[in-house]
Amino acid sequence: KKRVLTGITTTGTPHLGNYVGAIRPAIAASRSDDTESFFFLANFHALIKCQDPKAVHQSTKEIAATWLALGLDPEQATFYRQSDIHEIPELNWVLSCVCAKGLMNRAHAYKAAVDANVAEGEDADKAITMGLFNYPVLMAADILMFNADQVPVGKDQIQHIEMARDMAQRFNHLFASKKQPLLTLPNYQVDEHVAVLQGLDGRKMSKSYGNTIPLFLTEKQLRKHINKIKTNLLEPGEAKDPDDSTVFQIWQAFANEEQTAEMRQAFADGIGWGDAKGKLFELVNAELAEPRERYNDLMERPQDIEDILQMGAAKARKISQPLLQQIRQAVGIYPLS
Ligand code: TYM
Repeated sequence: KKRVLTGITTTGTPHLGNYVGAIRPAIAASRSDDTESFFFLANFHALIKCQDPKAVHQSTKEIAATWLALGLDPEQATFYRQSDIHEIPELNWVLSCVCAKGLMNRAHAYKAAVDANVAEGEDADKAITMGLFNYPVLMAADILMFNADQVPVGKDQIQHIEMARDMAQRFNHLFASKKQPLLTLPNYQVDEHVAVLQGLDGRKMSKSYGNTIPLFLTEKQLRKHINKIKTNLLEPGEAKDPDDSTVFQIWQAFANEEQTAEMRQAFADGIGWGDAKGKLFELVNAELAEPRERYNDLMERPQDIEDILQMGAAKARKISQPLLQQIRQAVGIYPLS
């Protein structure tokens, strides 16, 4: 069976970008008989960006409830919290000892932080923690710990998967035989149609830009958010360019082919922005209405979510514990005899 694995950082409230870019395709794939799925809450990664304990904790609950509400079957998939898998931070250390510092210097997230500091005339390393620098190594540990074949992610994460591949290769080269590599080289999987969803301001929808549309708003709030999507100043009746429109881009992510063609035509015919947004609300709401109810219900029962995560951790550790033993053995860490 093919192993598919992906994670979400537990900061903030899940948004349409996470849903379209990660959760929806992941859950769909997990229903196929020839895959074995691993989904997890990356709460160690959250500490890199967020030093508000209540926020990290709350977000963990919200994201867990989100996956379950959207139809993830925790019996079929393995659904867990990163911090419950004690083998991950250990592998993180082992990988950090085979990973070249130069590789990490090229990581986008780190480079962006350095560039921002420099642009502001600050010290290049200001507020850059070892956690941020090490981010791709921890992520590689998440992936390699379960010998994942496929990692479905948004485009922003491709570089991290490639780095995980590099680390796996390096580890195998140093510590395993060619015939029996210990770590599987992972592949990223990006859905080209909906790779990066735009946010309210037209930039990538992202917690860090504050431009998101959260997944489980009330209907009223969802409509309000959709109405806030930035549009250019074209009057009703003027032809609009769908390929330069966040409204159309989000439409496409929720519509079938026929609906997409219809909206493309409506844009050419100069549909008013108010109308287009009204239709977008209906479309998105139709997909999210039922999961929203399940979500609200689950959020009232945190102990049930906790039980599911514990079950997931037990399942996951059946794999991570023996693999870590092999890794320890390979690097020379085993009992004296
Ligand atoms: P995170 O939490 O930033 O995002 C989770 C997933 O959602 C995707 N995504 C988007 N997709 C489309 N449009 C958007 N606007 C959008 N915003 C976010 C992201 O690409 C990602 O797939 N480092 C990861 C979490 C992680 C992980 C892992 C993922 C930790 N360990 C191991 C895979 C495997 C992250 O911060 O994702």
